[in-house]
Amino acid sequence: MKFYVVSGSTLGTAEVAAETIVEEFAKLPQGEQVEAQLLHSPSLEQIQDASHLVIVCSTHGAGEYPDSFVPFVEALEASEQPLPNLEKLLLIGIGSSDYDTYNGAIKQLAQVFKQKNLQPLVEPLLIDVSEDFTPDLTAASLFTANIDEFFA
Ligand SMILES: Cc1cc2nc3c(=O)[nH]c(=O)nc-3n(C[C@H](O)[C@H](O)[C@H](O)COP(=O)(O)O)c2cc1C
Repeated sequence: MKFYVVSGSTLGTAEVAAETIVEEFAKLPQGEQVEAQLLHSPSLEQIQDASHLVIVCSTHGAGEYPDSFVPFVEALEASEQPLPNLEKLLLIGIGSSDYDTYNGAIKQLAQVFKQKNLQPLVEPLLIDVSEDFTPDLTAASLFTANIDEFFA
C-alpha cells in the first residue's frame, strides 16, 4: 500500500490541512500500520505508485487551481492512464463561499479524475473558510470520518 496526502495551496491553508491530516492519522490504529507520505504540489510522477490518495486543494483566482498545482493537473489531463495502482481517492476542497466560484478547483479536479476513470470515494468534501476558522482540523475530521471506507 502506498498512501499519499497531497496539497495544492497558494497561501498555506491547504498545506497545513494536509499536514494535520498526516499528524492525526499517525495517532490512529491505521496510522501505526501504514505510513502517510506528505507532498505539497508534487509532480504526477512522484505519486505514480499511489494506491491511496488524499488531495487537499484550495481555490484561487476565479475558481482556479493554485499556480503551483497546475503542472500536476496538466500532467493528469495529459496522461492516458494516470495512477494505475490507485484504489482509493479522497478529495477535500478549501475555499470561501464569498466567491461565486466556491471551491471551483476541487470540483474541476474531481471531473478530471472522473474523465480518467478514477472515481473519488465520495463527492469532494468542501470546507468553507468564511465560516470555518479551523479548516485544518475540519480536514482531518473529514478524512477520519471516511477512513474505514478509505482503507476497506
Ligand atoms: C485572491 C483570492 C481569490 C480567491 N478565489 C476563490 C474562489 O474563486 N473560490 C473559492 O472558493 N475561494 C476563493 N478564495 C478563498 C481561498 O480559497 C481561501 O482563502 C483558502 O483558505 C486559501 O487556501 P490556501 O491558503 O491553501 O491558498 C480566494 C482567495 C483569494 C485570496
